[in-house]
Amino acid sequence: MRVGLLTGGGDCPGLNAVIRAVVRKGEVFYGDDFVGFRDGWRGTLDGVTLPLDVEVCRGILPRGGTILGTSRTNPYTLPDGAQRVRATLHREGIEALVAIGGEDTLGVAWRLHEEGVAVVGVPKTIDNDLSATEVTFGFNTAVQIATEAIDRLHTTAESHDRVIVCEVMGRHAGWIATYAGIAGGAAEILVPEEPFNIDEVCERLRARHAKGRFASIVVVAEGAVPTEGTIEVVSTEVDNFGHPRLGGIANVLAPEIERRTGFETRVTILGHVQRGGTPTAYDRVLATRFGVAAIETVHDGQYGHMVALQNDRIVRVPLSHAVHAIKTVDPQLLHDVAATFF
Ligand code: F6P
Repeated sequence: MRVGLLTGGGDCPGLNAVIRAVVRKGEVFYGDDFVGFRDGWRGTLDGVTLPLDVEVCRGILPRGGTILGTSRTNPYTLPDGAQRVRATLHREGIEALVAIGGEDTLGVAWRLHEEGVAVVGVPKTIDNDLSATEVTFGFNTAVQIATEAIDRLHTTAESHDRVIVCEVMGRHAGWIATYAGIAGGAAEILVPEEPFNIDEVCERLRARHAKGRFASIVVVAEGAVPTEGTIEVVSTEVDNFGHPRLGGIANVLAPEIERRTGFETRVTILGHVQRGGTPTAYDRVLATRFGVAAIETVHDGQYGHMVALQNDRIVRVPLSHAVHAIKTVDPQLLHDVAATFF
């Protein structure tokens, strides 16, 4: 079979492990030919391809990023976008397409499938906010990086009696903030799911410092928002899928904490450090399992499906289940577990 492969959306540690697994299983077990599309859906729009076979994939398992490149291109923003994608697939002789991405990339995959394109999805995002799968690869790596950063921030915060606001990624959901916050012993965890009240945050910090602790790490997800009418946050430009470009809530939060509590407060924004570099062993294994399952799904002709992790087993779910709603953090994890340490 001739199979196309693309990676879309933000890059993520483990993408190359998926590509390698799809190609290895496809070429060796099924005799497939592969065509890589460059930069996600943009490659299918413009017909830009890359050669892809077992040789090309040698050595890429531990490499971060994606050898195919990626973009946030959405073909459905163009009047003839879907038509151009179909034309490219036809010209390249593609019989099935494996799309590796998050809600946006897989949303496009689902729409194309509805229009008759043979697509299988693989869930990816460091944010871990994709429905229908318990975990996405890249999340574990991001949590590990953020936790190590928080550990380091503790020692410097303690030496200087400071509050440090550490901003992590997480646009719609605070999975990274919650996991890294719990693992790193944060004094506060602020997530997009629950608007935070700055007075209450400062009150808890004051109470904590009054007990004799003089340093606090506040972990804030980039998508966290203050309760209405408390602090003003300026809105930013949006991407091709209509998502605002976030990053910087910590810069708003820190001066407010310092002004209200009198505690010297500093900011660390982890940003793309969380997405770069080598995947953890867990993410390499999950990505490999997803890749193998994806090409098996292609050969079973189960198009319009995404591979997913449920009860630690790889399953296949309709793409529509994955793209219709965001998977948000379990409130119990925040209120019963994380808040015990606030
Ligand atoms: O891929 C998800 C994500 O990492 C979000 O957490 C973040 O808001 C966004 O990507 C950043 O995207 P970009 O790299 O395009 O600025």
